[in-house]
Amino acid sequence: MKLLAHSLVRIETDNAALVFGVTEDGKLVQLIFGSKAEECGEPSVAYPTWGDGWVYEPAFQATHSDGNTSVDLRVTDIIQAENLTRIQLGDAAYALRVDLLFRVYPKYDVIESWTEVSHDEPGEVVLQTFASSSLDFGQGEAFVTQFRGDWNDEVHMEEERLTYGLKVLDSKLAVRAHQFRAPWFLLARGGPAKEDEGEVLGGSFAWSGSFRFSFERLPQGSLRAICGINPFASAYRLSTGETFETPRMTWAYSPSGTGNLSRNLHAWTRAHVLRDGHQSRSILLNNWEATYFSFDETKIFSLLDGAKDLGIEMFLLDDGWFGTKHPRDSDNQGLGDWTPDPKKLPNGVRAVADAAATRGLRFGIWLEPEMVNPRSELFEAHPDWAIRQPGRELETQRNQLVLDLSNPDVEAYVFSLVDQVLSTDPGITYVKWDCNRYVTQPGSPYLPPDKQSHLPVLYVQALYRIFDRLAKAHPHIQIMMCSGGGGRVDLGAMRYAQEFWPSDNTDPARRVLMQWAYSQFWPPIAVSAHVTDMGHRPIDFAFAVAMSGRLGMDMDLDKLSSSERDLARKTVEAYKGIRDVVQLGTQYRLQSPFEGPRSALMSVLEDRAIVFVYSLGESPEGPLQLRGLDASRNYRVREMMKDVETIHRGSNLLEEGLPLPAYGEFGNGVFELTAV
Ligand code: DGJ
Repeated sequence: MKLLAHSLVRIETDNAALVFGVTEDGKLVQLIFGSKAEECGEPSVAYPTWGDGWVYEPAFQATHSDGNTSVDLRVTDIIQAENLTRIQLGDAAYALRVDLLFRVYPKYDVIESWTEVSHDEPGEVVLQTFASSSLDFGQGEAFVTQFRGDWNDEVHMEEERLTYGLKVLDSKLAVRAHQFRAPWFLLARGGPAKEDEGEVLGGSFAWSGSFRFSFERLPQGSLRAICGINPFASAYRLSTGETFETPRMTWAYSPSGTGNLSRNLHAWTRAHVLRDGHQSRSILLNNWEATYFSFDETKIFSLLDGAKDLGIEMFLLDDGWFGTKHPRDSDNQGLGDWTPDPKKLPNGVRAVADAAATRGLRFGIWLEPEMVNPRSELFEAHPDWAIRQPGRELETQRNQLVLDLSNPDVEAYVFSLVDQVLSTDPGITYVKWDCNRYVTQPGSPYLPPDKQSHLPVLYVQALYRIFDRLAKAHPHIQIMMCSGGGGRVDLGAMRYAQEFWPSDNTDPARRVLMQWAYSQFWPPIAVSAHVTDMGHRPIDFAFAVAMSGRLGMDMDLDKLSSSERDLARKTVEAYKGIRDVVQLGTQYRLQSPFEGPRSALMSVLEDRAIVFVYSLGESPEGPLQLRGLDASRNYRVREMMKDVETIHRGSNLLEEGLPLPAYGEFGNGVFELTAV
């Protein structure tokens, strides 16, 4: 393959380089992806299309308006300005264009990659496969880590070597990215991923619907990753003159292990993805695990009193507050009818918001605006607003259906319903946005027969428009992104939110592992971590675990013993003193809970640090090496819940470590370090 001498396109961050070239016949080839120090390797096809000789997994396949199923792309222009590179490709024989776009965030070693597809053909072009990103990782060994799971059991880290053939990580859930697998993965080169050494990439897809990551080791030995919207049953008929923009695939690069990768991703996510990524968060009490559907105003007021007494700053009223004809007393009715249940809340939501305000608490509310129970006034009035397929018995999950956001009337309805709830009760400053099912019968009563396969794409696009309009109309409202737990922890949805609900599994013993897994990609400020009595673990352990994220509680405070109440009060107070360090600091993972009974994390902000130690079994005494401190300074180390203080030299803490005692099961320590 001969390259045009002047054709190199370098896309660079501080440590990574993605280099393309153009062959004499105008084909785009990839020469490097990885360390900046890498020499240009063998050219490989940059964005393989079906029909120009490529016989492996393609990044792009389309049917032209005349029925031709092949695509042959040649470079027509390359535009580089500041941090954005646009490589324009055009079909050699058709008026079809595919632009490859790359945005770099140099200091975080992050590259976003996506495409724009358009055409001027005389009829529709059907996009069959339309990946956001296709990269070649060369010949070396590579290991992928996926984050798999299920409801109540999210993000198990599972690593495997990629051998010859195709490995696909995908989801076909349409309205959420994740139930069985998160839309992010690690890819380690040369050996399994390690915390502090080795070349590793993080791939994360900004889309809250069906996705597909394919890894194919070709017969020649090189490994290719193709990432984008899942093309399964999602063909998209692109009209003449229309532009289809694919979601962004984010690649983060680290030459020195996953720890560095995560720290960069945390900082980038706070700066460029999350809303208010630099503002610390309120401590909240949620009533879900305290009451489930069974509460009334008196009970809620009593929880508000409890919250105030403990120093909690916000109350979140969860599911069950609405429904008149079909009161939401269980999950089998009422969803869709967003008027307060007069039996539970005779004075409306406003009375609760006011009662919260009188106690000095912020107030938040649970909504699941995209869904409907068949037993609801909304469904009775609009049976054609639900996603369903003709001739099939309606299949519910959690007794509910998904509203058809591809229908503009439904999109407008969902926006105005949330807008109205927020405008009617100005006391609301926080929303938990839930989504408790995925799609199994992907049919739209609104879309014409030849556009049924557009539903998965149109749904997510409409959802983002709703999120966007709401964020603009109600900028002070904070959002907890929830989807029956962690189903929408993706870069697409999280652009509109401040934090996410990681899982309905709140057992702190499980959360230690989950929080470790989430931390690979997500900063502690985004992780809603609530103290509950799930698992019946010691409450101090539950607090220590929750304090390493955004602390909250989800318990019936009326049932706390007086010693538990004292501990809760003291811990909430203590968290207020350290939350800036936890939420706005730099996190180091010190000891993995997958490698032994004792695990540890720490966060550092300027001259302060917080260290969390958790023991999931019997762990012997032994030092814990710390990170991120100034070797030349002394640190006052205070074990927070015990008020014991010692002074240590930074260099000792970094090299020999902080001496720790033996811990029994669920033993824990939270240490505050201050440079003196
Ligand atoms: C699923 C969420 O994950 C829970 O926290 C709770 O809000 C329920 N939905 C309410 O139905």
